[in-house]
Amino acid sequence: MPKTSKRERANRDLLVTNCGQLVTLRGAAPRRGKALGELQIIRDGALLLRDGRIAAIGARQKVGRMAESRRAEKIDAHGGVVLPGFVDSHTHLVFAASRAAEYEQRISGATYEEIARQGGGILNSLRKLREMSATELKQRARENLAQFAAHGTTTIEAKSGYGLDWASERKILIILRELAREQEIEIVPTFLGAHVLPPEFRGDKNSADEYVELICREWLPRVAEESLAEFCDVFCDRGTFTIAQSRRILTTARACGLKLRVHAEQLARTGAARLAVELQASSADHLEKLTAADVRALAKSDVTCTMLPGCCFHLGLSHYGPARKLIEAGAIVALATDFNPGTSPTLSMPMILSLACTQMRMTPAEAIAAATINAAYSLGRCESIGSLEVGKFADIAVFDVADYREIPYYFGVNHCVLTMKRGRVIYSRGARTSFSPKGEE
Ligand code: NIG
Ligand code: FE
Repeated sequence: MPKTSKRERANRDLLVTNCGQLVTLRGAAPRRGKALGELQIIRDGALLLRDGRIAAIGARQKVGRMAESRRAEKIDAHGGVVLPGFVDSHTHLVFAASRAAEYEQRISGATYEEIARQGGGILNSLRKLREMSATELKQRARENLAQFAAHGTTTIEAKSGYGLDWASERKILIILRELAREQEIEIVPTFLGAHVLPPEFRGDKNSADEYVELICREWLPRVAEESLAEFCDVFCDRGTFTIAQSRRILTTARACGLKLRVHAEQLARTGAARLAVELQASSADHLEKLTAADVRALAKSDVTCTMLPGCCFHLGLSHYGPARKLIEAGAIVALATDFNPGTSPTLSMPMILSLACTQMRMTPAEAIAAATINAAYSLGRCESIGSLEVGKFADIAVFDVADYREIPYYFGVNHCVLTMKRGRVIYSRGARTSFSPKGEE
């Protein structure tokens, strides 16, 4: 057989065929209310891919009859479920080590905030990250990216925030930039210099404001100048940054050309979600402690409400965010892993779907739309990713199940068998397992 170059292979048409359920999510974005549950499924479908984009999509027979399809290289989905690749719109990708010891402390009764007050938590991760070389941090992140791909994720947002001095924050953002160039998963970088107060600024009572000024006067302009991040985030909560400090940082960030995200209402109800609405942030994340009036305000806005049920699960909390109320009020709801070593050490979006369905009573269809098209919207990318439509990037995840509902149903099990980013296979389970999609008996 003649050898083909990498370039020739990338340019060749690809036909993904025999898709038992092709979950397209075509139509208007973002999805609110009832529309969140409308997946627009094609049964027995196929997709023709060209130059990393979707060239045709429809019934297998129809797409298969096209001349280009007959010439194309074929990928057989074996009757499985085909989704747009997951868009994980909230991760803390770059960190040095697990915090399994704190996990055990919490199981024994200590709370997340108590551990943080004793110098653990984010400060624990900060100490380790500052000491670790960029090479080692990058290698760890690269391995995690491979795991994201193995769970069907094709785009992630990733925050700095475990450095909290300029050199270390920059180290994280440069790692993100290099990884974005060196591997296939799309990485959307966010500057989170206001994660907690770093040790150098603890002590006298004006230091928090001094740190905020340092971020605003020196770091944000540098982030913008070096194009190190697309978004700025603030952990606006009890024990971290106040509403006034967060407003100062976020308005400065916006003036520097960054878009905004906010960690809001996780530990206590502080008004952070309202601040996100006031500043027209792209996303308000966590939202476990929302009031009914907050739900109404978010529903009227274009702020995406990013629910992170992995945190509640890992912290052993019984109260999850009010996803149902937000959906019913008409808010834009998204789902993300919040992959981080402290509160949500998972990079599995299928597991997040299981938690969203079982614990927050989202339907499987709503959860899938929240983890794809609405998450893409929150990252300003719903024109190019998040659904399977002609012209969009060929970001695709194949699952060896017969029904999309089985993805969250089989909790803690990864049924992703193939992931493609812009038409390239970035994960393949290899030899298929003996499981073949049968559906309900
Ligand atoms: O999203 N809430 C703030 N940041 C992370 C936790 C970070 C950590 O504990 O390391 C979160 O839950
Ligand atoms: Fe977070």
